[in-house]
Amino acid sequence: GKNPDYDLTAAIDPNGVGLRQKLTSYGDAHFSLFMRKLFIKAMGYSEDALSRPIVGIVNTYSSFNPCHANIPQLVDAVKRGVQLNGGLAIDFPTISLHESFAAPTSMYLRNLMSMDTEEMIQAQPVDSVVLIGGCDKTTPAQLMGGISANKPIIHLVTGPMMPGSFRGTRVGACTDCRNNWAKFRAGIIDIEDISALNEELAPTAGTCGVMGTASTMACLLVGLGMMPIQGATAPAVSSARLRIAESTGAHAVQLAKTRLQPQTILTRESFLNAITVLQAIGGSTNAMVHLMAIINRHPALAGTITPATIDSIGRRTPLLVDLKPSGDNYMTDFHNAGGMPALLHQLRPLLHLDALTVTGRTLGDELDRVPLRPLPAYSPANCIRPLGDPLYPASSLVVFQKGNLAPGGAAVIKASASKDRRLLRHRGRAVVFNGSADLAARIDDPDLDADADSVLVLRGIGPLGNPGMPEAGLVPIPRKLAARGIQDMLRISDGRMSGTAGGTIVLHVSPEGADPGSVLGVVRDGDVIVCDVDERMLNLEVSEEELRARIEQRKQEMAAKGQESWVARERVRGYRGLYMREVNQAEHGADFGFLTAAGPRTKEEDRA
Ligand code: FES
Ligand code: MG
Repeated sequence: GKNPDYDLTAAIDPNGVGLRQKLTSYGDAHFSLFMRKLFIKAMGYSEDALSRPIVGIVNTYSSFNPCHANIPQLVDAVKRGVQLNGGLAIDFPTISLHESFAAPTSMYLRNLMSMDTEEMIQAQPVDSVVLIGGCDKTTPAQLMGGISANKPIIHLVTGPMMPGSFRGTRVGACTDCRNNWAKFRAGIIDIEDISALNEELAPTAGTCGVMGTASTMACLLVGLGMMPIQGATAPAVSSARLRIAESTGAHAVQLAKTRLQPQTILTRESFLNAITVLQAIGGSTNAMVHLMAIINRHPALAGTITPATIDSIGRRTPLLVDLKPSGDNYMTDFHNAGGMPALLHQLRPLLHLDALTVTGRTLGDELDRVPLRPLPAYSPANCIRPLGDPLYPASSLVVFQKGNLAPGGAAVIKASASKDRRLLRHRGRAVVFNGSADLAARIDDPDLDADADSVLVLRGIGPLGNPGMPEAGLVPIPRKLAARGIQDMLRISDGRMSGTAGGTIVLHVSPEGADPGSVLGVVRDGDVIVCDVDERMLNLEVSEEELRARIEQRKQEMAAKGQESWVARERVRGYRGLYMREVNQAEHGADFGFLTAAGPRTKEEDRA
């Protein structure tokens, strides 16, 4: 009989698949289908091809984005997987974000990318979608948009880059970028060395080769069940990466048939698994903000998991993966040691194995399909520690719960990446900087009133204060102290830090300094700050009365300047205006309120 998919006059099913879904109607659904078909036939597709389930492939290639440089090959391999399994693969672009080419900061554009992803998935007649991405903000943006669109999705990451080599030592973006730049600043290495390093730090296509945000998010996608368990670690330039792409195409055809949606796959248990992975890999602090944004896109889960959940899971989860910046190795070592399947086998007692994954099987089923190899004795080539012999006993990421300095509950420290552990319990006098420009102007001043015990406070780099919440939280050690060999100090900010960086650094303080009601906004030079990581406490030793008076005074000063709100934002045009009016605080994910599952807040709710 005639395939009904070929028939332009067959009854229109509002839940139709392929080209029959979401018909734009020119007032006439059959005419809309007729138009769709006649235009797509200009691409050379036959009726047979067009009768297959359509797998969309999101292509985030850009010549500005070396982390995504292998995407053309990956698209090819995904298409092969789709078409060998009876689907029709159609790729389409969304915007491309690279960390170094997304001024003012890639985070400023993450929500825009999530909107682009959501709307293009919604707009086009795709039955399932392969989301190809890799660089830091891309995977979270894609998952945020994918959850909101709620069509079947599966993630494919571009994979990590290979390490480079400098005078016999392996190097890689971007922990070694920062370490070596700090050495250059301190006069330890010269201009020839730093120039030679510039050639080697990103020697191949792919995402940063340490446990930065990109690698962290790739591992979390596995923990969440949104990417097959072999998918996180294969290098960008490996043939394994291409085979993963091919099998992702096969999975996507199956998804197009099962219609398994992300809001169905993702449960509380999926997120608890992802957080367990986050703590066990010593993941990026940025992942915390992204996870909050992702959870808050899910109508059934929004608000049920908070930064405090990350802290409590941390207390029972050891750090098992020895990668920079917490440890010594590179993503390729993690991959060669067995990657995520080997890690998940170790974590088994801590995981919810019955959580569903994108393959339609549970995480436990998926693990059972990968043989458990005993871990050999620890060596750099085997950087996964057994559960009973961890690199760090627990809480690689700590969220502060007590004290007056960060009442929003978002302030975090990657304790496992502290260079001077004594600073994890520290009392010192504040040296305050108002924004990145003030910091740049004064940090290297020989007269800066700071010593090794000072607490460097940088404010005004939060989601709203410096739209985008830049990765400026890695406050450099003042040059005069670095030159004396001081490598770490306690630093506190309302900004973010690259996941590839290390040091004793408290980030994401909320409410941010730009909020006239915030304590961070009224810290003064010389105030005593107490940080106690074991107690989860971050406190400014200033009396409550004094704090109230300072905050009141600040509000009056703002009012005198005609500043009714934190920053004048009502009349800022374009995307920047949208961002400034809508972005929420770090504990909610720095998403736009109107994109969350809860939807937009009214003006009255905003003021409350
Ligand atoms: Fe893209 Fe680091 S710059 S992953
Ligand atoms: Mg980064």
